[in-house]
Amino acid sequence: MGLMEYVQFTPRQATRPVNETKTKKKIHKKWADIDRYIADRLIPPDRALDSVLELSQTAGLRDHSVSPNQGKLLMLLAQTVGARAILEIGALGGYSTIWLARALAPGGRLITLEANPAHAKIACANVARAGLADRVDLRLGKALDALPTLTAEGPFDFVFIDADRVNIDKYFRWAVKLSRRGSLIVVDNVVRYGTAIKDEDSTSQSLDRFYRLAAAEPKVSMTALQTVGVKGHDGFAMALVTANP
Ligand SMILES: C[S@@+](CC[C@H](N)C(=O)[O-])C[C@H]1O[C@@H](n2cnc3c(N)ncnc32)[C@H](O)[C@@H]1O
Repeated sequence: MGLMEYVQFTPRQATRPVNETKTKKKIHKKWADIDRYIADRLIPPDRALDSVLELSQTAGLRDHSVSPNQGKLLMLLAQTVGARAILEIGALGGYSTIWLARALAPGGRLITLEANPAHAKIACANVARAGLADRVDLRLGKALDALPTLTAEGPFDFVFIDADRVNIDKYFRWAVKLSRRGSLIVVDNVVRYGTAIKDEDSTSQSLDRFYRLAAAEPKVSMTALQTVGVKGHDGFAMALVTANP
């Protein structure tokens, strides 16, 4: 940019961030309000789930669990495939774990992988309080260490990937390996305000690797949707496994 252009641009650019921030806040509030409107109508108050959020907040956990609307979507999707074996990567306080465990067909089981011992402890307590401890098995440790040990416990009918984004492509590769024809794999946080198309950090790169991997994987058919709501602008990917590994 030449000096004249810089001089002409400076005053406008100086005011833009303030206006943009205000506009963004307004838009975010609208997204969040609509999310709450939907939840108020379609998701009745639920003592077990509400207390997970309260207790997680009291324990100082970051607000990284899925929203109620997303949690119910996970449950519906797992029910749609009649899931008897569910694998979750990233439990945090167990909020999505509880939604998913409720979807299990009779006699089903859910394995959830969590690396943080404090999160794991809270998740176990929350799952027990929700009356689901008999079907949920939390494995403490890094997911990439645990995944290779799960071969004998699969195939899983439904996999939910919601841990560190930097390994998202590796988790997806494992999810496909541990699935069967007809399994559904849901991957959260695949948009994060457009991180994937920004090419700015390791998360952008891992998201890009993930999309390329999924596109090239002949055993899955995948799409991804952008979402807005209480969690801001993000998205999830959904892959149907179309062949046995
Ligand atoms: C976004 S939170 C999960 C939220 C949860 N699925 C929910 O919706 O309620 C991500 C979780 O993944 C865990 N995590 C991060 N890296 C991990 C790893 N390498 N292996 C297993 N868990 C990991 C974090 O400790 C955190 O609890």
